[in-house]
Amino acid sequence: MQNENILLIGAFGQIGTELTEALQGIYGESHVIASDIRLSSPEKAERVRFEQLNVMDAQRLGELVDKHKITQIYHLAAVLSASGEQDPMFAWQLNMEGTINVLEVAREKGIKKVYFPSSIAVFGKDTPRENTPQHTVMNPSTVYGISKLAGERWCEYYFNRYGLDVRSLRYPGIISYKTPPGGGTTDYAVDIYYKAVVRKNFECFLKESTYLPMMYMPDAIKATLDLMHADASKVKVRNSYNVSAMSFSPREVTKAIQKHYPSFKASFRPDFRQKIADSWPTSIDDSVAREDWGWKPEYNLESMTTDMIQNLSKMDLTQYKKEASAVV
Ligand code: SER
Repeated sequence: MQNENILLIGAFGQIGTELTEALQGIYGESHVIASDIRLSSPEKAERVRFEQLNVMDAQRLGELVDKHKITQIYHLAAVLSASGEQDPMFAWQLNMEGTINVLEVAREKGIKKVYFPSSIAVFGKDTPRENTPQHTVMNPSTVYGISKLAGERWCEYYFNRYGLDVRSLRYPGIISYKTPPGGGTTDYAVDIYYKAVVRKNFECFLKESTYLPMMYMPDAIKATLDLMHADASKVKVRNSYNVSAMSFSPREVTKAIQKHYPSFKASFRPDFRQKIADSWPTSIDDSVAREDWGWKPEYNLESMTTDMIQNLSKMDLTQYKKEASAVV
């Protein structure tokens, strides 16, 4: 494992932060390069080897690959579904150019493995919504979903045409406490826990009955690493694998939280994100991932809720509390 040098792009995001830590644990700190368009904070600078990178700058990406003798790239930088609808052209440019730059640099420089995160957003209103199969009608309606679906097609193209070992998962909504998500339709399912722990009520931007597929971060990290470490012969799907852990609605997560905080209350005021959620699956069939490389999640809604609350309760949420008060 020590001969690998890994570049993470978008390392300060919700998934990037925790994936960086996990990869450092496996490959050693000196073998993991964290890059992001944002500058590193002094605290982060102590923990990671950092390079600033805008993934749209293909030349700099190539230079970093040479400089650090990179052998694997995890490309996590993207504009998510809700933000994407605010500025569709920017979302398309960043998501598409970024992905093509990564694939091209990987091909040119002989990178061994590339990871590309896709999403349940690749599905659309013509897709069977319950237990959505691995192979089905797609027709996404958000710019984020269109860019992820196009990204999946490019990944498979690079695998078939150039033999590039690209691997990908279609993440559901990811719930975590270390780094907040930004700009997604599933973000409510993170914010609701913060609100409960700082003893505020929560106003949800989705209807209480809106079921969406979700996953706790430790499972998302496990899925990513299991896939990336699987023998190449087992990775038979080269566009992107469905992965699933749980499916819940805002009403259900509220009830799960109320077991810990009986006086916690949520209200529901759907906005433009409701339409996005309504175009996505309510649950996902991930049997192909289970069969091909042994995927199995550990957390369900109850165990995740207990863990989220335990961890958030230990954190200093003063700043969050101030911001939450300011917007109420
Ligand atoms: N969490 C993402 C979003 O809501 C879905 O992949 O945009």
